[in-house]
Amino acid sequence: MSDHDHHDVLDVPEGAPFATVHFLRDDKTAKVRLGTSVLHAGLALDLVMENACGEVCACSTCHVWVQKGTNLLSSPSDDEEDTLDKALLVKAGSRLSCQAKILKAGHVEVAFPPGTHQFKSH
Ligand code: FES
Repeated sequence: MSDHDHHDVLDVPEGAPFATVHFLRDDKTAKVRLGTSVLHAGLALDLVMENACGEVCACSTCHVWVQKGTNLLSSPSDDEEDTLDKALLVKAGSRLSCQAKILKAGHVEVAFPPGTHQFKSH
C-alpha cells in the first residue's frame, strides 16, 4: 500500500464546500473536502483507524456507526453491503468507513462498534 500523506484531505480550498466529521471515541473533528472517505477523515486526524484489507471492501475492520449525516454519504455498493453482512454489531448507520465517501457539505458524526476499536490514538 502506498504511504501517501493522509493530511491532504484537510486542505479545503478557500470558499469550497466542506464537511466536518466528528469522531466520538476520540472527541476529535476533521474539516475535510468533499469526496473524502470517513476512513481518511480519521486518518487525517492521526486516529487509529483499522483498515486491514487496504480499503478494498473485503475485511469489515473499518466498520463504523454513522450517527449523524448518513444522508451526506455515498450510498453503499453491493460489495459493501455483502461485507457488512458478515460484520458484527451491524445496525442502522453501519458503514465501511473506507467506502463511505462524504459527498455533501454538512456534519457527520461517527462512533465505533464496541470491542472492535478499543485503541486510543494517544
Ligand atoms: S478497510 Fe477493509 S473493508 Fe474497509
